[in-house]
Amino acid sequence: MRRSVKELLQSKNYQQEVAVKGWVRTFRSNRFIALNDGSTINSIQCVVDFENTDETLLKRINTGAAVSVKGVLAESLGRGQSVEIKVTDLEILGDSNPDEYPIQPKKHSFEFLRENAHLRIRTNTFGAVMRVRSTLSFAVHKYFQENGFNYVNTPIITGSDAEGAGEMFHVTNFEANKAPQTENGEVDYTQDFFGKETNLTVSGQLEAETYAMALGKVYTFGPTFRAENSNTTRHLAEFWMIEPEVAFNDLDANMDLSEDFIKSVISYVLEHCKDDLAFLDQRLTQEEKSKPQAQRSDMSLLEKLQFVVENNFKRVSYTEAIDILRNCKPNKKKKFQYIINEWGADLQSEHERFLVEKHFKCPVILFDYPATIKAFYMRLNEDGKTVRAMDVLFPGIGEIVGGSQREERLDVLQEKMIALGIDEKELWWYLDTRKFGTAVHSGFGLGFERLVQFTTGMGNIRDVIPFPRTPQNAEF
Ligand code: 4AD
Ligand code: MG
Repeated sequence: MRRSVKELLQSKNYQQEVAVKGWVRTFRSNRFIALNDGSTINSIQCVVDFENTDETLLKRINTGAAVSVKGVLAESLGRGQSVEIKVTDLEILGDSNPDEYPIQPKKHSFEFLRENAHLRIRTNTFGAVMRVRSTLSFAVHKYFQENGFNYVNTPIITGSDAEGAGEMFHVTNFEANKAPQTENGEVDYTQDFFGKETNLTVSGQLEAETYAMALGKVYTFGPTFRAENSNTTRHLAEFWMIEPEVAFNDLDANMDLSEDFIKSVISYVLEHCKDDLAFLDQRLTQEEKSKPQAQRSDMSLLEKLQFVVENNFKRVSYTEAIDILRNCKPNKKKKFQYIINEWGADLQSEHERFLVEKHFKCPVILFDYPATIKAFYMRLNEDGKTVRAMDVLFPGIGEIVGGSQREERLDVLQEKMIALGIDEKELWWYLDTRKFGTAVHSGFGLGFERLVQFTTGMGNIRDVIPFPRTPQNAEF
């Protein structure tokens, strides 16, 4: 029976006959194959009896080739491994031409690997990142399922713009330039597939709220789309968002949930991805060495993860944060690109990172933001100018979570929508939740890729999703 490399490496059952299939990582001295099958970051050494092996077969053992190996498991004398396979049978399942195969056993730049995203998964780094990503997504479901949440699949095609930021991809069946027009010369969407203007979702929140008002605790975990034209290391046009929504939770309970949730999934990965994280920890330490001293992190990846799990997130109001930022050195010395002068300013990632990395030196939850810089559905505070919003800010990442207590009062919500020019007719179903059995409720959205970035220490969000979608790029 075929066994996985992971299983065999843990086996102490020497002298048994084993069979394994995988891809050649390296082949040294015409003798030692490092074979990897994706079950673990570690490869198993397969020792070929080259004197009794046909030369043409030996020539086909190239990096990237798929092979089937049968042999005897033996204790290994080599460094860094406990077992190896003494090969008795070797079959090449699929050749890999060494003159053409792009992934050679040497260091490739992430840029080069992005152009080969279909093959980059065959490297140690991407194997580790994607196994951690998979484990993290399991931990997300595990956390919510064990805590009484129901998984809701909200629509990917919607007619609403939840965030009101206008960063939507349109969904239409009209051919470009051939869209029928109304008498006023506008596109006549009544003739389109859905009979109305539709787009890819920017958030499942509004639909999730309707479910929270019946199932109590719900969460979404699905693809999310934003047509932001930002080429940063933290933005994707297609990403995955996790959005819990809980009836009867106020903002404090919402902050507690976000903190407990993040700590829980990171703990899970620390326990279940030890080999991958150890590798990524080493990788990051190497990368840090190439940076100037001042920019180096004083914690390793594993230390950072442990730190997040073990320490309380600092909770700070927006107003406090603005005071800190206004009086901090980089602001006074005009080192920030955006100088903070007044209360009401929107915070940029440079400010968020200053608060987290330099000032508080721990994850921070900012709350009670000015109403003017946040979405329409957030609950207005008694002061009439701030809303019950919260952002969780992480080192190296900035904003990882955005959430709020929702405006549950129908009249206040309607007033807000009128002020912002949001058509009540478009969101009649959303307003119904405020008409029939309305209640305090809260939720948040966590950008899954930003969580994977933090957990793996990868600097660019394009390297933590299999096939990134960004401006001018939808290859694969
Ligand atoms: O802060 P945002 O825009 O919040 C919402 O969409 C709310 N409806 C969530 C809710 O309350 N249910 O987005 C939430 C998170 C951000 O904090 C960020 O982590 C991530 O989604 N995010 C992105 N991740 C990658 N690429 C992008 N373009 C992202 N935009 C937001
Ligand atoms: Mg946000």
